Amino acid sequence: MTALQHVKMGTYYVVHMPEPDDFAFWRERARQLVQCDVPPDRVAWVEPGGNGSLFSHGDKRLPVPDDATRMIRASKRFLSIAKNVAHHSDPERFSLLYAMLWRLQSNPRLMEDKADSQVRRLEDMDKSVRRDAHKMHAFVRFRMVEDEAGNQQYVAWFEPDHHIVRREAGFFVRRFANMHWSILTPRGCIHWDGETLRESGPAQKSDAPQGDPAEDLWRKYYASIFNPARLKIGAMLKEMPRKYWKNMPEAALIPELVAGAQKRESEMVDAGALEYEDRPETLAAIDKAIHACRKCPIGLLDNQAVMGEGADDAPLMIVGEQPGDQEDQAGKPFVGPAGQVLNAALEVAGIERKQTYVTNAVKHFKYVQRGKRRLHQSPTAKEIDVCRWWHEAERAIVKPKVVLALGASAARAMLGKTVSISKARGEPMMLDDGSELWVTAHPSYLLRLSGDAKAEQERLFAADLAAVKERLAELVE
Ligand code: URA
Repeated sequence: MTALQHVKMGTYYVVHMPEPDDFAFWRERARQLVQCDVPPDRVAWVEPGGNGSLFSHGDKRLPVPDDATRMIRASKRFLSIAKNVAHHSDPERFSLLYAMLWRLQSNPRLMEDKADSQVRRLEDMDKSVRRDAHKMHAFVRFRMVEDEAGNQQYVAWFEPDHHIVRREAGFFVRRFANMHWSILTPRGCIHWDGETLRESGPAQKSDAPQGDPAEDLWRKYYASIFNPARLKIGAMLKEMPRKYWKNMPEAALIPELVAGAQKRESEMVDAGALEYEDRPETLAAIDKAIHACRKCPIGLLDNQAVMGEGADDAPLMIVGEQPGDQEDQAGKPFVGPAGQVLNAALEVAGIERKQTYVTNAVKHFKYVQRGKRRLHQSPTAKEIDVCRWWHEAERAIVKPKVVLALGASAARAMLGKTVSISKARGEPMMLDDGSELWVTAHPSYLLRLSGDAKAEQERLFAADLAAVKERLAELVE
C-alpha cells in the first residue's frame, strides 16, 4: 500500500518519543509524515511516561514516503524556535510543532504572522524555555560533600520548569571544568568527573546536601557585592522568584539587606560607586564598569581595575593574565617587567604594539601583602571564568582576527578549560566569534627562567610571535 493509500484510509499514527527533549528524533519523524501528507489530526506524539494507551488503536509504523527527497519548507525562525520548544514541559509541544510545520508547507511566512495564535503560543514557549535556562545558569548553587576517602564533590539541587538539564550541561562543564559535580533535579541528573559527563534518572531534594560551611563565605561575599542602589524589589522577585531562594545560601540575607538598603545606598553614592547591568557596548563603558566589578572577591582588594589598551579595531588582541603591581599603579596593562619582555619580542617579530589591542583575562591585580610588598597570586579558575564577561565584551567590540593568549590563565579565559601551553602552542583554534586563538607562554615565565631553559623558551616565544605575524599578513590583505 502506498503512503497516500494509508492516509486516505484514515490511518492514525502514534509516535513514541524516546526522550522528552529529542528534537532530532521529532524532526526526522515530522519530515517523514509531512512527506506522506499525514495531517496533524492523524498523528499523536507521546512523550516518555505519557499516556500511550489512549492511542492504542494507532499505528506505530509510520508510512514511508514515495519520494523521500521531497523538499520540506521550514523557515529558519521556525527551526530556531522549535529547537527550544522541544524542551518545554507542555505535553502538547510536539503536536503543536507538527501542526505548525504542516501549515508552513502552504504558508512559508506563517511565523511572521504575530496575530496567529499558534505562532504566539510557540513564541511564548520558546521564551519560557530560554528563561528557565537562564535561571539555571544563575541560580544553581553547589554544596561541597566529601566521600570517605576525602574526595571532594560538589552537588546542587535545582528545579527546572522544563526539560533543559541535558541541554544546559555544556554550560556547567565549561564553567566548572575542573570540579567534580552533580546537578540533581526532579527531571533527571547530570554528573561531571572532570572528564566525562554522565546522566541519571530523576532525584529528590532529600538526595542533595542541605548546606555546608562554605555558605557562610558565600553570604559574606554576597553582602559585599550587594548593590543597594539597584534594589528594585518587584524586578528582583521577577528575576529571582522565591522558589529558588531556598537553594541559594545568599538568599537568607535578602530581607536584612533590603532593610538596610537605603543607608548603604547613600554610602555608596558618597563613595562614587558605579553600576553595571547589561554588557557595555563601548570600550569606554567597559572601562567605567570594570571599576565597579565585584563579581569575584579580587576587586575588594586595594587595587584598581586595569582596562585593555590599544587600537579599537586591532586585528590582533593580546591577552595576558592579570595586571601586576606596576600595571595596577599605572592603570595600564603590560607596563612592568613582563611588558618589557613582550615589547621587545613584538619588535623583533615586526608587530607594532600600537596596532594591537592588549588586555588581560582578569581585570584586577590579585596579591598577598608581605610587609610593604604585594606579591602576585594567580587567579583561580573560577575567578578567570567570572571575568570572561569583560574580555568577551572587549573582543565583541574590537573584533580581532587573531587572539594571542599569553600563558595558561589567558588560554583558560579564552577556551573555558585548562590547556597545556606546550600542547596548545603552534595549534591555532577557532573561537566562537570566528577569530583564531593562538597560545604561547607568558613573558613572566621567561623572566623566571635562566640558562639554557631560558634561551629555549625565548626562542619558542619568538617563533610563536613570528608565526602570528605571518598569519596576520595572510588574514589582513
Ligand atoms: N602580566 C600580565 O599578564 N598582564 C599585565 O598587564 C602585566 C603582567
